[in-house]
Amino acid sequence: MSENLDRLPRIGDPAPDFTAPSTEGEIRFREWRGDSWALLFSHPADFTPVCTTELTALAGRSAEFQARDVKLIGLSIDSVHAHLAWRENIREKLGVEIDFPLIADLSQQVARAYGMLHPGEAETATVRAVFVIDPSHTVRAVVYYPLNVGRNVDELLRLIDALQTATREAVACPVDWRPGDSVIVPPPKTSEEVRRIESAGYERVDFYLNRKSLSTPVGS
Ligand code: BEZ
Repeated sequence: MSENLDRLPRIGDPAPDFTAPSTEGEIRFREWRGDSWALLFSHPADFTPVCTTELTALAGRSAEFQARDVKLIGLSIDSVHAHLAWRENIREKLGVEIDFPLIADLSQQVARAYGMLHPGEAETATVRAVFVIDPSHTVRAVVYYPLNVGRNVDELLRLIDALQTATREAVACPVDWRPGDSVIVPPPKTSEEVRRIESAGYERVDFYLNRKSLSTPVGS
């Protein structure tokens, strides 16, 4: 059992493909993603308080994910029936429509392929895992939270903005980067690059730390 649980896809790995039942019918993951980015996340269980706040917050901001061409998809080791009943309960009690699919992973097939089960934390419930997957089907970021702490939707959106910006502009994003902030010029690898960066007029601390502003801020 433990060797299956160790199959955590790492950053830069191909995202494992799967076919699984969901609230939108059978999902063929790669087909469903198409050429979009995806945020695949697990929650421990339906009808639990922290999970309810997370799902509600993600659904409330789903337009912001859509604007970034990111498709949301959730997962837990619960049945389609439980997912549907929970979704209905959230609609009735909180007035929020969960407008993305929830995978019913009773077989734990997907949870195991993505290393979402951490037996030291819970034997049969997935931890709060997040995989950001890009249009070339590569895992670009992995985030894990324990059962008793909810995730931060602002940070997930910031992570996606930073990943998309870094990829598009061939730059890196510094600590606490936000759209519109200056970005980091990749450090030089040759003496010729040292000279080129030196003469480029960047905001310079030293040869390895140069910042530049982007002409068109993200979201503008
Ligand atoms: C919750 O979502 O509140 C929760 C789920 C599983 C264990 C602990 C808390």
